[in-house]
Amino acid sequence: MKAHPGATMTIYDPPGTVKRALPRAVSPANIQAWFSIIPCHTCGVRARAILLCHGHNFFSRVHPSTPRSWPEKAEDKGQEKKGHRCPSRFSCAKNNWRLKKAGLQLKEKMNFGNNKNSKPKKQKIPDSSDDESDQDNRRMEEQGAENGVADMAACYQGFDPGAYLQNNYSPAIADFERKDGLEPWKLACLHRAFTEGDVRGELLVDVGSGPSLYQVMSGCEVFNKVLLTDFLEVNRQELRSWLQDEGGCSMDWTPFLQHVCKLEGRPSSAWTEKAARLRQVIVDIVHIDVHSPQPLALDVLPSAGADCLVSAYCLESASPDLAAFTRALGHIGRLLRPGGHLLLIGTLGMTYYMAGPGVKIPTVPVNAAQVCASLKESGYTLIRLEVYRVPQDMMLCSDDSPGTFFVKAIKE
Ligand SMILES: C[S@@+](CC[C@H](N)C(=O)[O-])C[C@H]1O[C@@H](n2cnc3c(N)ncnc32)[C@H](O)[C@@H]1O
Repeated sequence: MKAHPGATMTIYDPPGTVKRALPRAVSPANIQAWFSIIPCHTCGVRARAILLCHGHNFFSRVHPSTPRSWPEKAEDKGQEKKGHRCPSRFSCAKNNWRLKKAGLQLKEKMNFGNNKNSKPKKQKIPDSSDDESDQDNRRMEEQGAENGVADMAACYQGFDPGAYLQNNYSPAIADFERKDGLEPWKLACLHRAFTEGDVRGELLVDVGSGPSLYQVMSGCEVFNKVLLTDFLEVNRQELRSWLQDEGGCSMDWTPFLQHVCKLEGRPSSAWTEKAARLRQVIVDIVHIDVHSPQPLALDVLPSAGADCLVSAYCLESASPDLAAFTRALGHIGRLLRPGGHLLLIGTLGMTYYMAGPGVKIPTVPVNAAQVCASLKESGYTLIRLEVYRVPQDMMLCSDDSPGTFFVKAIKE
């Protein structure tokens, strides 16, 4: 408009103009500037007004005195003078949060929409000394966190248990002949952790089991009760199929069972006994959400909590960012009794994995130092952290993980 003053616009021009102008207009600086504090010219209440993209020539600045129809809602009336309807829907304080949220959601949509698989970025919120602003900022952060978690949950709707198992645990991938392979390493870490003598009790909970069982094949010999959990019904159904042993299962876990038997000093033929033991001790398969402060339904665990938690590739695969990963560690810690153990397996530096044909799940890339810091912040004492680096010729095409960590920790 500035470049071609007086030129005629047609109805075909706005989409192109908006396409060029909007990404430039929705910058962090502009979003902050939109919420300048000004007095409402009619009611005098000092409030934040949204000044649409001032400094840019696409949107005109919306002055708060611009009359607008404003559907009256009880929660919107708090700051107004009695009988007065603020002429600007943008000027009264009760509307601030809604508007900020709208701005934030727009920005998030743009970030997330650019790349279907990129994770939503946490929004930077302007520092402010006044209390109301601090509260608003906190609420915005919370809302941003909720949005990130909701976006992750949406990604998981395409999770395909059969494809996931094929990508990660089929004989071609989990090659037990290769001593430097990931699966022998993981199973050895679990075997050692469960047989050192300090991990004991009655109840073992596996957090985010997915459609997988290898992570409880050592623990099932130590604990008389094993609870499997996952966020998705398709995964819980896959586990039930294995449990029922009626042939509906997508995965043959025999090579894993045989390998763990060998680690325990038994012949690999003992795998049938191990399978029977596992089926005997699995007490239930239930829904879990690690992003909920109460991840399991109330009546699922005894009041003392579980004696041990095992969790493999769940937290970093379910979290939009490091803060959510740390919070999730804290949430699952509430399931554990004080002095109980956490055995945590996770990827290092992974940014995505494939959970089905065309289902690319963005993950939070964590490093060992961040895992240690998150554990400490969430009330665990680290016993040890071990790292596995994927040999170049064993890199999978279904994810970009260069390594895996194994943690043994204890709840303080
Ligand atoms: C990479 S898979 C790991 C599965 C399995 N533990 C394994 O080692 O193969 C990640 C798992 O996290 C689960 N998940 C996703 N969001 C979750 C949430 N909010 N709470 C708990 N689990 C979640 C998924 O359903 C999926 O089974």
